Amino acid sequence: MAIRALCHLPGDTVLRQKATRVPSIDGSIQQLIDDMVETMRQADGIGLAAPQVGVPLRVIVLQMPEEELMVIINPEIVKSDGEREVTEGCLSVPGYAGEIKRSVSVTVKGLNRQGKAIRIKATGLMAQALEHELDHLDGVLFIDHVKSRDKLYKVEAGTGPEEL
Ligand code: NI
Repeated sequence: MAIRALCHLPGDTVLRQKATRVPSIDGSIQQLIDDMVETMRQADGIGLAAPQVGVPLRVIVLQMPEEELMVIINPEIVKSDGEREVTEGCLSVPGYAGEIKRSVSVTVKGLNRQGKAIRIKATGLMAQALEHELDHLDGVLFIDHVKSRDKLYKVEAGTGPEEL
């Protein structure tokens, strides 16, 4: 495993690309997943999408507090319900947090790292994290959801919301 460099705004245009589907889960994808997990943990994040380490492929990892590590390849949101206001941060937009709206619950389908089809229903922070990471795969960042300038503010390292 290796820690990979995190991509940031501005400058890393891979963050604005639409990522492509993983055609086959080979050794390079397993390596990518291992490196993403290590990079996420080292950065104290609770989620990471492959474009954040410069790889425009549809792979996400999540490590929610008190939960098992989750890896989803080619994830898709199949259902979302409700709306709630959250404060959100992103490892690729360091130093900022924003107040945005996210769904209360989402259902996501995709493949696990063994290539098995999985379906996950999540609520609360996990639903927020899934929407955030799925956005990354389409080149969307949380700042795009901020509706007015006063809902985006600077935070000092370690004092903001969980980073995704
Ligand atoms: Ni992010």
